[in-house]
Amino acid sequence: MKRVSLTQYLIEEQRLNNSIPAELRLLIEVLARACKTISHSVGKGALGEVLGAAESENVQGEIQKKLDIISNEILLQANEWGGHLAAMASEEMETIHPIPNRYPMGEYMLLFDPLDGSSNIDVNVSIGTIFSVLKAPEGMATPTEDDFLQPGTKQVAAGYAVYGPQTVLVLTTGNGVHGFTLDREMGSWVMTQRNIQIPVDTAEYAINASNSRHWYAPVKRYITELEAGKTGPREKNFNMRWVASMVADVHRILNRGGIFMYPADQREPDKPGKLRLMYEANPMALLVEQAGGAATDGKQRILDIQPTKLHQRVAVFLGSRNEVERVTRYHAE
Ligand code: AHG
Ligand code: MN
Ligand code: MN
Repeated sequence: MKRVSLTQYLIEEQRLNNSIPAELRLLIEVLARACKTISHSVGKGALGEVLGAAESENVQGEIQKKLDIISNEILLQANEWGGHLAAMASEEMETIHPIPNRYPMGEYMLLFDPLDGSSNIDVNVSIGTIFSVLKAPEGMATPTEDDFLQPGTKQVAAGYAVYGPQTVLVLTTGNGVHGFTLDREMGSWVMTQRNIQIPVDTAEYAINASNSRHWYAPVKRYITELEAGKTGPREKNFNMRWVASMVADVHRILNRGGIFMYPADQREPDKPGKLRLMYEANPMALLVEQAGGAATDGKQRILDIQPTKLHQRVAVFLGSRNEVERVTRYHAE
């Protein structure tokens, strides 16, 4: 089999479809290299002294893990000097990170969740890095938080790396979703999946059911119907999976279908759900739509939401189209 590397894919995509300007290609390659470094750290585990909690909290009030901080640092350092970025923002930093004066400023802006699935770090279960790339607004001089507040439709690239039994990078630049497996011996990303498509129907769902007593009626109704199986209104048995790493759950759904949900609930009405719009929901929504699936917050398409805050949370329903459309319909009824 002829091996196509990430570099070759990016260059050929540029030639054929003119969809990846040189600066964006550089950005993606630098990002992919950073993910390789994170993957190496993750793989060391206890031997690299990277497990366990740090002594700090992030802006969400969550205790940071050592690997949250290490991964954040790796991404910042890798992406600072290339001249392709104007600023970065991260789950692990309250405010944006402008490119230091000593480096040239580029036209892209990068957002990331450096380490997704933190609760799985210490138990050797799949975790990942999620990223989203935006263009800086025309005429922007000094980047501010407001410059990042663009709806997900404006993303020029999005993806994730999943650190599982294999390390896999899944990427879209708006022309389909493609997967690259890290060849650890060669240190290169090799295309292993072209044009990933999510089946429109599924018999698998993912939700943290321990929150069920807090759910609103439409979600209760939807899940009750799934649980009822063959003898219920859906006349079909459904299976449940929950990794507690969004990256891993979405990776499964991209590969064999399913619906992933993190709904808003009655606990904090003004902070819907748990996941963050800008660096979790938006990049995943773009990937899922590019793979033929759907992504909503129960009411509207996630990619159409006009963000108002960098760290804002959002309810998430994504995956196989017919199921996402059904649960979204229940919200409207
Ligand atoms: P993070 O580790 O970046 O804070 O994100 C964790 C998220 C997401 O990956 C996952 O789907 C969800 O939190 C798990 O939530 P529960 O703890 O409710 O299972
Ligand atoms: Mn996360
Ligand atoms: Mn995280």
